[in-house]
Amino acid sequence: MSSEKKMIKQRVMSGTRTTGALHLGHYLGWLVNCLKLQNDYECFFGVMDWHGMTSAYKSAHEIKKWNRDIFAEMVAWGLDPEKNTLFIQSMVPEHIELFMIFSNLTPLGWLERVPTWKDAEEEAKANDTHNLGRFAYPVLQAADIAIYQGGLVPVGQDQISHLELTREIIRRFNKLYQGQLPEPKALLTETPAFPGLDGRKMSKSYGNSILLDEEEKSLKKKINSMVTDPQRATRENPGNPDVCNVYTYHKLFSSEADQSWAAQGCRSAGIGCGDCKAKLCENIGQMLKKPREIKKDLLNNPTRLDSIIEAGCEKARQEARKNITLVKEWMKL
Ligand code: TRP
Ligand code: SF4
Repeated sequence: MSSEKKMIKQRVMSGTRTTGALHLGHYLGWLVNCLKLQNDYECFFGVMDWHGMTSAYKSAHEIKKWNRDIFAEMVAWGLDPEKNTLFIQSMVPEHIELFMIFSNLTPLGWLERVPTWKDAEEEAKANDTHNLGRFAYPVLQAADIAIYQGGLVPVGQDQISHLELTREIIRRFNKLYQGQLPEPKALLTETPAFPGLDGRKMSKSYGNSILLDEEEKSLKKKINSMVTDPQRATRENPGNPDVCNVYTYHKLFSSEADQSWAAQGCRSAGIGCGDCKAKLCENIGQMLKKPREIKKDLLNNPTRLDSIIEAGCEKARQEARKNITLVKEWMKL
C-alpha cells in the first residue's frame, strides 16, 4: 500500500489559446494527445482567452464567440466534460492572481530570452502586439499550470521554451517560500510541425489551414488547391509522392492501403492527381463528419452548451481556489 501511495498520479494540464477556430494542426499537435491522456489521468483542459487577448485584443468583441466555438469543438472531438475539467481561463480569476505573484519573481531577462518573444519582436511591432501582455505570456502560462498543480503538459514543439520557463519560475517560487508546487514536464506529440496546404506550418494567419469543422465543399476546394509534384505536368507523367504535400497528408490521415495505393499509383502514373486528392478528401471528410455534427448541435443548443461550460468552470474554480490558498499560506500572505 505504501508504494501505491507514493505513486500519486501526476495531473495533466493543458490548453489552447483563443484565436478563432481550431484546425487540423491543433488536432495533430495537441488534441490527439489530450484525447489519449484523458483515459489515464485526471486532466484540466482550458480555453485560454487571456492568452488569445495578448495578440487579438483589438478583436475583443469576438473572444466570447471564439471561446464557445473552441469549447464546443473540444467536446465534439471527444474530450469528455464529465471525466475531465474543461474550462475557460477568464472564468477562473485565480489564474490572474497567481500570474501577478509569479510576475514578481520572474526577472525580465528570462522573458527577453524566450524565442516566441525574441524572434518575433519586429513582427510584433508591425502589428501592434509589442505589448506587456504578450511579453508576460509565458508567466501567465506558468500560472495556468501551477494553479492546478499540473505535472504533465501536452503541448507542441513551439511551447518547449515556455515550459522551461514555467519550471524555472516554479523552482524559484518553491525555494523562496518553501512551496511544493510540482515542476511540470512537457509531453510532445509525435507529429512535430504539421504542414499547411501550401507546405508552410499550418496557421490561421497564413490562410493555409483546414478547420476542424470544415464543410465538405470547402474541404474539397482546399485540397484541390494543393500543389503537387511539378514533374506530373500531365496525367501520363509519373511522379514522386515523397515531394508532394498531398502524400504527406495521406500518411497522416489515410489507411496504409490507401497510402500504398497513392504512392504506387503516383510512381507508375496509374492514378492522376485528381484521383489522389479525391481519396484524401474522402478520408479527411470522413474524420471530420461526426465531430462537425456534434459541434453544430451544441452550438444550436446554447443552454446546454452554457451549462456544460459553467459546470466545468465551477470545477476548475474549486481546484484553483484550493491552490491559491495554499500558495498564500506558503507565502505567509
Ligand atoms: N501557449 C499555449 C499555446 O499557444 C496555450 C496555453 C496557454 C497553454 N496556457 C497553457 C498550454 C498552459 C499548456 C498549459 O498553445
Ligand atoms: Fe501528389 Fe498524389 Fe499527384 Fe502523386 S498522384 S503528385 S502523391 S497528388
